[in-house]
Amino acid sequence: MTGSDPTQDGTGLFSVRGRTALVTGGARGIGALIAQALVEAGATVYLTSRDAAAAEKTAARLSLLGECFPLTADLATEGGCRGLAEEFTGRAGRLHLLVHGARTLPPAPPAGSGDAGWDRALGVNLKAVFHLTRFLRPALEAAAGLGDPARVVTIGHTTEHTTEDTIADLDGSYGVASDPASDPASDLPSGVSSGAPPGAPPGVPSDETSYAHAASTAAVHHLTRQLAVRLGPRIAVNAVALGPFASYPPFAPELPLASDTVGRSPLRRAGGLDDLAGVIRFLGSRASAYLTGAVIPLDGGLAATR
Ligand SMILES: NC(=O)c1ccc[n+]([C@@H]2O[C@H](COP(=O)([O-])OP(=O)(O)OC[C@H]3O[C@@H](n4cnc5c(N)ncnc54)[C@H](OP(=O)(O)O)[C@@H]3O)[C@@H](O)[C@H]2O)c1
Repeated sequence: MTGSDPTQDGTGLFSVRGRTALVTGGARGIGALIAQALVEAGATVYLTSRDAAAAEKTAARLSLLGECFPLTADLATEGGCRGLAEEFTGRAGRLHLLVHGARTLPPAPPAGSGDAGWDRALGVNLKAVFHLTRFLRPALEAAAGLGDPARVVTIGHTTEHTTEDTIADLDGSYGVASDPASDPASDLPSGVSSGAPPGAPPGVPSDETSYAHAASTAAVHHLTRQLAVRLGPRIAVNAVALGPFASYPPFAPELPLASDTVGRSPLRRAGGLDDLAGVIRFLGSRASAYLTGAVIPLDGGLAATR
């Protein structure tokens, strides 16, 4: 290796330059960080939002760094997934890397406690991963090379294996990870990433919305492995199981040190753009061509504390 940037090692092993990526939920939050990481590394990125103006705004910002195009899609239904797949395929044809960044949190109780909350969580967080992958399979297979499959990346959660921690985390102990104020569909106060009403004590299973989100995340990990088995050898499917991330400006990983979750992690900080960039570029490049069906923890070591 000749320098600190592994894409400059002369072999292109870690490079995504010239590859085409589609990042759902790429206008904001984790999805926007992933889109930026890929654009900066030379990939052509299509990002999606339900809001055409939001997609255009983020794509315009990222276009200053490279090639980025906005698409509008609501992925809550099978028809929405089909529509996005058709539009993408019509415009780009081949897809090297599909990143499922879109997710939703049911509204706070009582609105989110019933079937509507469960349907919303399972629809966007789980079913859309299946349907969109299915509809984009031809575009993915068209991009696959010999020994270098097209890639699908799902976004999971590091707490999937520990039900107590899942509930604690979802009861607001992240505190900084997300900005629900920017989600028109969210009833949560700004600064609380998910789940329970403000002020709910961590660890208390105070509402059913946490269960829907946690169950959908665990199911995404399982679906990832199942798709990996079924879609090989031309398509590889892996999950990134995230811990807390500073996914809104100023993207400062050190900010949320007060969070219980961050305090428990060996690396004592939230994740940031570079942390996501390292893993997502690896998963989009030849460097990961022999990896599929993996759930990769990207959580500052939280998974190791259990
Ligand atoms: N942030 C963290 O600290 C953290 C920690 C662990 C795991 N995660 C995981 O990372 C992923 C993203 O998290 P985030 O913090 O970025 O979430 P977020 O801020 O709530 O963003 C959600 C994204 O999903 C999109 N979306 C919501 N409903 C949609 C729908 N019906 N159709 C299409 N797109 C829809 C939104 O797009 P528009 O509103 O623009 O349409 C937005 O881009 C999730 O899987 C989450 O579980 C995040």
